Amino acid sequence: MNDDTTLDPNTNNGPAWNARYLDDDIPWDKQAPCPGLVDWLADQAEEAVPPKLGRWLVPGCGLGHDVQALADAGADALGIDLSPAAAKRATALGRTVLVADLFDLPADWAGTFDGVWEHTCFCAIHPEQRDAYVAAVHRVLKPNGSFLGIFFDAESDGTEGPPFKARFDTVRTHFATRFQNVPSAPNWVPRRQHRAAAERMLLLQR
Ligand SMILES: C[S@@+](CC[C@H](N)C(=O)[O-])C[C@H]1O[C@@H](n2cnc3c(N)ncnc32)[C@H](O)[C@@H]1O
Repeated sequence: MNDDTTLDPNTNNGPAWNARYLDDDIPWDKQAPCPGLVDWLADQAEEAVPPKLGRWLVPGCGLGHDVQALADAGADALGIDLSPAAAKRATALGRTVLVADLFDLPADWAGTFDGVWEHTCFCAIHPEQRDAYVAAVHRVLKPNGSFLGIFFDAESDGTEGPPFKARFDTVRTHFATRFQNVPSAPNWVPRRQHRAAAERMLLLQR
């Protein structure tokens, strides 16, 4: 993922993201679900009474590999992405993905999701939009709904990688304004990662 500080917090950056998918310039796409999500889903399945996952939203899902992993685990999983090209490719792969802007979701989605899965969407939005991101995912969750995400714990230094990296402490501070901690899941580090020693998992409750 190249640094792209041209992304503007005041506009819908769909055309810029869409161009990347049209050009097949998508180095962030690993052609597989996020390993940490796969580990978490496997842990859920091994519970004595596996929890029913219910309805999950994946914002900025790209080609929807994580949507597929959630659906395979029994969730009613919906992905959204700003890019029509991404959504078209994801749909062709059999994933349920709609073109939508996280910051402009339908009003009747409020309180309808049991979970939100975050992976490389938060680091793709402008830092000025972080509180709006937290508000948007909080709004779509049911009371007690789960927010689960993997965050790339690093400073944004203009080098190769996500456009708007953030330290994990910064991420936690943004989410603490609206979410509760899950006491059983403090500082969970996923067993397997895309980027060694840089990814941190956050599980919160609305
Ligand atoms: C770095 S890519 C990651 C895609 C996917 N999560 C993955 O890991 O392959 C960031 C994605 O977020 C999408 N995106 C950026 N801003 C968005 C917004 N406001 N609403 C929905 N999707 C957004 C982009 O179109 C892009 O597909």
